Amino acid sequence: MQFELSHVDKVYESSEEIKVYGAKNVNIKIPEAEFMALVGPSGSGKTTILNLIAGLILPTAGSLKHGGEDITSMSLEERTKHRLDYMGFVFQDYQLLPILTAAENIEFPLQLKGFSKKEIKERVEWALTQVGLEKLGNRFPSQLSGGQQQRVSIARAIAGRPQLILADEPTANLDSKTAQEIIELFLKLNKEFKLTFIFSTHDQRLIDQVRTVLYVKDGQISESRVHNV
Ligand SMILES: Nc1ncnc2c1ncn2[C@@H]1O[C@H](COP(=O)(O)OP(=O)(O)O)[C@@H](O)[C@H]1O
Ligand SMILES: [Mg+2]
Repeated sequence: MQFELSHVDKVYESSEEIKVYGAKNVNIKIPEAEFMALVGPSGSGKTTILNLIAGLILPTAGSLKHGGEDITSMSLEERTKHRLDYMGFVFQDYQLLPILTAAENIEFPLQLKGFSKKEIKERVEWALTQVGLEKLGNRFPSQLSGGQQQRVSIARAIAGRPQLILADEPTANLDSKTAQEIIELFLKLNKEFKLTFIFSTHDQRLIDQVRTVLYVKDGQISESRVHNV
């Protein structure tokens, strides 16, 4: 099912007079199995667009649809459930719980989704294998490198078998070699499972491998490019 933002504005009001456009007339179609990057400097609106797609914030104007369903007309509970059912998240700073092992970090959202113990165990093993960490499930985040921690967070994001992975600057804290490995892992998961990816970055070196690149400037999509990859 396709995600579609049509004529989406997001206005942040910092005071009665001062309005900031986080997003302005944004139109994005995200078909199944898309591999898309949002590229732009700090403050351009990348996080705002990702949060809109996730339904974490609501547009001030415009529509946000998944399949035929309008996400903006859902209740808070419905949006939360929708997010849990269809989306996985990856962050710049990994956001792993330090007191849980890698495997336990992956388990946590699966428990929220109400899977059985047996199914959780199988999904955690599957997800760890997909990211190449099948032997490191018992380690705590502090016992893993940055790249390994990001792999755990990717395993956590895919373990519930979502349709869409949203990743906000997933390589910003990583050296260029590790950043490249993370993008290759995304590409592998995209190809193998037709999993849709949309991620933000300001790393120009990564974007030749990305099918659709949207350049973001002042809350607007200023340009888009499609590569054959
Ligand atoms: N919660 C907020 N309240 C007010 N302004 C915000 C808020 N979040 C973002 N902004 C503003 O919206 C614009 C886009 O920000 P953001 O989406 O975070 O950009 P990026 O992720 O590309 O750095 C910036 O001008 C930023 O200051
Ligand atoms: Mg941001």
